Amino acid sequence: MAKHEKTDVGISTILNPVPVVMISSAGKDPEDPSSRPNIVTVAWAGTINSEPPMVSVSIRKSRHSHKLITETGEFVINLVNKALAKNCDYCGVRSGKDEDKFLSCGLKAVKADCLDYAYYIEESPVNIFCKVREIKELGSHDMFIAEIVGVKADKYLLDDEGRLCLDKAKMVAYNHGEYFILGEKLGFFGYSVASDEVFEKRMGYKKEHDKYKRIREAEPKKGKKY
Ligand SMILES: Cc1cc2nc3c(=O)[nH]c(=O)nc-3n(C[C@H](O)[C@H](O)[C@H](O)COP(=O)(O)O)c2cc1C
Repeated sequence: MAKHEKTDVGISTILNPVPVVMISSAGKDPEDPSSRPNIVTVAWAGTINSEPPMVSVSIRKSRHSHKLITETGEFVINLVNKALAKNCDYCGVRSGKDEDKFLSCGLKAVKADCLDYAYYIEESPVNIFCKVREIKELGSHDMFIAEIVGVKADKYLLDDEGRLCLDKAKMVAYNHGEYFILGEKLGFFGYSVASDEVFEKRMGYKKEHDKYKRIREAEPKKGKKY
């Protein structure tokens, strides 16, 4: 069989790998137990705009978190590292209707200072604070389109110049129903065309062969554009 001989594998949500995140939220009434801070695991999440920074998360109407987020228009995306992976899975198979998942997981809920109701997970390395701007009913899931209004990160993730180094965080990705820890760094944004100096500085070793050197050197220099 030729290496790239193809076959149809069925139409499904096969886009992989994806981030898997723990989304925390809380209701408005502190006296009501069903309003307590909750965590839901979400794999259908993504960045959708740079200016302003925006994300989308898709959540089924049946989830307790759907009710909380709809009520307040707020949530926090808590990124998942190796230490949180089992808690992340747990929060994806138990409902906040039935239990306090912060308590079950032994995680600390901290009130988000830039939001009115939501709490974040202290143990998560990066917390992304979001305000809902629009809810789109897509079919099985409702997509919450939200603006990022704040971001917190564990201090150990910053280098001496204050840059965030997420490679230190042992982040988890989700690939076709399974959790993986991110491993070997292969390159960086633009590494295929980076100069020898930049490549060596960022990767810590010299480029072995440069497939694109001839093309790069023939081109006029362009500014960075995303
Ligand atoms: C890895 C994983 C990914 C998930 N992704 C989503 C998702 O993107 N959207 C969603 O509505 N539910 C998703 N779920 C299911 C919810 O996390 C699950 O139904 C959870 O128990 C709902 O919690 P809640 O009722 O407290 O909100 C996922 C579960 C797992 C384990």
